[in-house]
Amino acid sequence: MYNYRNLEKEDCEFVDVVETDDLPTGERLFIEIDDLSIVLFNVGGEYYAIADLCSHDDGPLGDGDLDGLELACPRHGAHFDIKTGKALSLPAIVDIPAYPVRIMGETIQIGVPRD
Ligand code: FES
Repeated sequence: MYNYRNLEKEDCEFVDVVETDDLPTGERLFIEIDDLSIVLFNVGGEYYAIADLCSHDDGPLGDGDLDGLELACPRHGAHFDIKTGKALSLPAIVDIPAYPVRIMGETIQIGVPRD
């Protein structure tokens, strides 16, 4: 189960990441939370967070071209849905983690699963 957006709130630890003013629409931000590499996107004022790790060959993913909510891996071109983490095309066949995002005041928070 990789789409952590479906986790109950009490099963997540929400971490402050960035102020909303510092991540304008169309921008993305790379962060590390514990040992997780995550990329956070602002798409038209909606925020999406996924693992910065392609399930095909464990390469970095977040620098790929984004078309709507569909991200293309810069290495071999697999597509992923940044809302759900779902693998949409070969050569990836395994979904990647997608994390819940919430806004608290002016701060964007990402939820990571509690151990
Ligand atoms: S590493 Fe992403 S498609 Fe191969």
